[in-house]
Amino acid sequence: MKDIILTGDRPTGNLHLGHYVGSLKKRIEMQNSLDYDKFYVMIADTQALTDNADKIDKVKNNIIQVAIDYISAGIDPKKVNIFIQSMVSELHEFTTYFMNLVTLSRLQRNPTIKEEIKARGFETSLPIGFINYPVSQASDILAFGTTLVPVGGDQLPMLEQAREIVNSFNYTYSPQEEIFAMPKAIVSENKLLQRLPGLDGKIKMSKSAGNAIYLCDDEKTVREKVMSAYTDPNHIKVSDPGQVEGNVVFSYLDAFCEDYHFEKYLPDYKNLDELKAHYKRGGLGDVKVKTFLIKILEEFLTPIRERRKECLNHIDDIYQMLFENSHKASLDAKVRLEKMKDAIGINYKKLLSLK
Ligand code: TRP
Repeated sequence: MKDIILTGDRPTGNLHLGHYVGSLKKRIEMQNSLDYDKFYVMIADTQALTDNADKIDKVKNNIIQVAIDYISAGIDPKKVNIFIQSMVSELHEFTTYFMNLVTLSRLQRNPTIKEEIKARGFETSLPIGFINYPVSQASDILAFGTTLVPVGGDQLPMLEQAREIVNSFNYTYSPQEEIFAMPKAIVSENKLLQRLPGLDGKIKMSKSAGNAIYLCDDEKTVREKVMSAYTDPNHIKVSDPGQVEGNVVFSYLDAFCEDYHFEKYLPDYKNLDELKAHYKRGGLGDVKVKTFLIKILEEFLTPIRERRKECLNHIDDIYQMLFENSHKASLDAKVRLEKMKDAIGINYKKLLSLK
């Protein structure tokens, strides 16, 4: 049997370059390989509500935004099932039973959760739904028999949790046949690219930090953002030697620049190594490097913007596609839900047929 692939995003804002580099790019590659049985991409609205309970409009409006970002970036709804989490109610049933297999202290040790609790100021009043979301995410993954989960590095603890639930389920209920596949994370091989830094030099590009370039940003915005990006604070005069480590502009070049870009936009250099060497030596100004980066980003973003425009003319069709796909996903999840209930011993309809 071929792989079943599933991944997703919370609809809390538009997708940015960090999402693209950290996961969208890999998804599109996997999608185009056609080497899978099923491929699901979930818009995780239920998960988004775990820390946005009072911001329904934000989550609701971003469902279509994220769907448009996906399609514009190259996810093909003909190949991939893009669905809405809350429309697959079976997922909540999985979560209910999985919750009995996970301890609170285990959730409190999850490093991503720990970081997020701090970032949200949840230390003193922590919503149960929030601390529980790794269990709910395990349901998202396990309900479909998922074998591969392409995600950013911060999602590895969620996968670990899902794997533990599979073991714990098998240990507790000894199902006759294997119900849940053991899921595996697919993370970018390149450590540098697992987390694209923010424009301000912070470790991660994120909506909340306001340091992101969005897939839907227009040309002027991209130019302004790149021009304001953090470089090397000690590289004051052009003649000064500069640092490329921790220099955001070079991190973005690492992610997006290919040799042919030099021939096209900056023929004085053959490749990124040569450009970096010059910067380190001194004599290369930030503006020149930034201008080069802007051209590369424009080449990348222009077709995405065009597809976005096209999508904006077909909003109803996109909603329709999401609803149909959610229904299909729900039917898929139901099959495994029944098997799970059999294994636990709570499929009471079975009692009738024994008579
Ligand atoms: N937690 C993921 C994020 O914040 C979103 C998500 C929800 C997800 N369910 C998932 C990712 C299942 C992969 C698999 O980006």
